[in-house]
Amino acid sequence: MARGEAIVLIGFMGSGKSSVGRLLAARTGLPLYDTDCLLAESFGLRVAEIFAQRGEEAFRAAETDALAQLPLERAIIVTGGGAILRPENRSTIQRLGVVAHLAADEETLFQRISQRPTRPLLQTDNPRATLAKLLRAREPLYHELADVTVDTSPMTHEEVATAVLEAAEKFFSNDR
Ligand code: S3P
Repeated sequence: MARGEAIVLIGFMGSGKSSVGRLLAARTGLPLYDTDCLLAESFGLRVAEIFAQRGEEAFRAAETDALAQLPLERAIIVTGGGAILRPENRSTIQRLGVVAHLAADEETLFQRISQRPTRPLLQTDNPRATLAKLLRAREPLYHELADVTVDTSPMTHEEVATAVLEAAEKFFSNDR
């Protein structure tokens, strides 16, 4: 399969994809495509409002379209935490370029997510248990798809951006 030249960030909610994506775009000068932002723009709603007013299925369908429509160019691409659920999305993500998984342990993710109650999937009676369940189900998919994995738990966003850039450069120079 031919691979594009983008750096694609995948990972669970709270792994820092959006912040690291912005840093990577600023450092490289490459265009930034953040699918959550693209969807918010196209619906004219925040992500939580899309879930509440249109439902998760409509969000997922639009997410698949948004990924499929991304240009095959050098870019920084930030995906939503659930983008890896659909097999067709996983193929699209791989085609776009090097896939970098921003990993973090459950406690770190929970601490980060708790600071901003914007995640519709965690609006449950026991968000911690929901997080644990979703993470268990998704971790194998992130690992399967990743060309590189960065454990972000002990790192600042700046450090993660540096690690991703180094790994991407190595990937593009050696691994193909
Ligand atoms: C989701 C993650 C969110 C957003 C939506 C669904 C998920 O993105 O796409 O709330 O299923 O994990 P972030 O990973 O940027 O929070």
